[in-house]
Amino acid sequence: MSADAAKRRAAEKAIEFVEPGSIVGVGTGSTVAFFIEALGRMKHDIEGAVSSSERSTAQLRELGIPVLDLNAAPEVPVYVDGADECDPHRRLIKGGGAALTREKIIAAVARRFVCIIDPSKRVEVLGRFPLPVEVIPMARSHVARKLRALGGSPVWREGVTTDNGNWILDLHGLRIVDPVGLEREINQIVGVVTVGLFAARGADVVICGDEILR
Ligand code: 5RP
Repeated sequence: MSADAAKRRAAEKAIEFVEPGSIVGVGTGSTVAFFIEALGRMKHDIEGAVSSSERSTAQLRELGIPVLDLNAAPEVPVYVDGADECDPHRRLIKGGGAALTREKIIAAVARRFVCIIDPSKRVEVLGRFPLPVEVIPMARSHVARKLRALGGSPVWREGVTTDNGNWILDLHGLRIVDPVGLEREINQIVGVVTVGLFAARGADVVICGDEILR
């Protein structure tokens, strides 16, 4: 099965987790684009969506799916999103599409986080994919120095501004054996908005192609 076919299969299976009449949390990326397509076919069975990026919002609106403000959503039973890496404990690296902050917010609100991936995203230990860190622009150099002290090599994703007006540092060369500890540590650095480690709150369910990993 090609990576795209596996993404589409995972996305379509995730529809089974959507609760009728509910507000659906929607992530960002090429896998999620397949999910939004599938959600479009059942748009009359849901109240609407809360979206993690301008990109997903545009696709949702194009398909006629109402996009709601998260502050107006009393509850989000399910959040569906992709990942750049996923370990056997369903801890993730996310942010390849620079949407990590809003993704983490919706993941925090949602009762259940369903992560949809293709097999290339599965790893034993996180860190092969450079870890994205969203930073306040004026703190870029300060945060980069602190990240270097943690043993990684930060690279500024030049030319990319997040939906929140911030910048991204991609942290290369880490073997993340303690994702919860590293997430906590990077969160402490002044100027960091969000680190793309989803470990303290990982996925509840991972769908990889046709396979469900709980
Ligand atoms: C965006 C993300 C995406 O979920 C991640 O980059 C995976 O994307 P794709 O489904 O295109 O492989 O975290 O910020």
